[in-house]
Amino acid sequence: MLRALRDHGRLGRLCAVLTASAGLLTLQTAPALATPDTAEASGVNAQAPARTPLKDLTDNHVGSAVAASALVNENDYRSVLTEEFSSVTAENAMKWSELEPNRGRYDWSGADAIMDYARQHGKSVRGHTLVWHKQHPGWLNNLSASELRSAVKNHITTVVNRYEGEIRAWDVVNEVFNSDGTRRDSIFQRKLGDGWIADAFRWAHQADPSAKLYINDYNTGWVNDKSNAIYDLVRSLRQQGVPVHGVGFQTHLSIDYSFPGGFQSNLQRFADLGVDVAITEADVRMTLPVTDSKLNTQADYYERLWNACEAVSRCVEFTTWGYTDRHSWVPNTFDGQGAACLFDESLNPKPAYNRINPTA
Ligand code: G3I
Repeated sequence: MLRALRDHGRLGRLCAVLTASAGLLTLQTAPALATPDTAEASGVNAQAPARTPLKDLTDNHVGSAVAASALVNENDYRSVLTEEFSSVTAENAMKWSELEPNRGRYDWSGADAIMDYARQHGKSVRGHTLVWHKQHPGWLNNLSASELRSAVKNHITTVVNRYEGEIRAWDVVNEVFNSDGTRRDSIFQRKLGDGWIADAFRWAHQADPSAKLYINDYNTGWVNDKSNAIYDLVRSLRQQGVPVHGVGFQTHLSIDYSFPGGFQSNLQRFADLGVDVAITEADVRMTLPVTDSKLNTQADYYERLWNACEAVSRCVEFTTWGYTDRHSWVPNTFDGQGAACLFDESLNPKPAYNRINPTA
């Protein structure tokens, strides 16, 4: 039903104009903007016809990766996030190295700050990520296979239990395949063998039977050896009764490369396996400097991602890996690249935002 609102967004806007002409508008149609955490704090001009926030344009979860520090310390960042997005993913705070830097001693400060924000503002949360070959603590490297197995089980159980019933979906395992479809080398793969992934899902499910459990990866937005390997693994795990409920497509794109061919049909083939699919880390980077034509191409890519998720009924989430160029991993990772997000550093919506939001 809400999907239809994309056009109704236009209707909403029309209503706004009609009411305005009746001199009743701003306060009535802009209640969302009138909350202390939005209008004043983000300096949005309460006189302007209210655009429908992204989160209200669709049934899907509309999310952003967040850093606890920005959430706590930047009012404007927090207010635009609150206005536009219905879901948050911890960019780093829920990763093993951040949560359990020393064996058995947890630092929940970052994760709790994000959970507190979500509770306070009624946001849903995607947990990222329980087991990954990166950002895991060093003390794991010296463990025997049996010690590592119990450490993985203990970590998954402890973290998932803590937020039981509050985290809608977990990236249980992240980036477990190489681009040629073989298993990625990691201490988990090396010491625990192929079965470690199935075990991780079972332990996560035992810890919170209500959470949707995902396998998440990058460069899987089209049919290739890696996406085929994930397809085959998910099918076989489900045939074994392993609780895999969804597949996450990170979707880190660049306008220097063509848009993934068959992106929508690829999402659909996974959905046809009986799982949810989600765009979990979308961004569209460019080689700087920014130009209008690059921003226009970026808008094309974001619009095609958004529309593909809208078109696939089991695509339940559109999450960006950071919503503002002020907080994006891209410049630190790709020299000379950036401007990958929907909002600029000053939190102004970019052409990509206006393209996917017809009320903007
Ligand atoms: O926490 C330490 C801090 O104590 C230290 O002072 C600082 C200086 O080096 O580093 C901080 O750790 C950084 C961490 O982000 C937290 O800010 C790491 O150096 C840095 O490498 C890490 O980068 C993160 C990266 O994952 C790690 O691989 C990015 O912020 C994060 O956006 C990125 O996210 C990944 C997803 O999890 C999985 N998919 C790809 C995506 C992009 O790489």
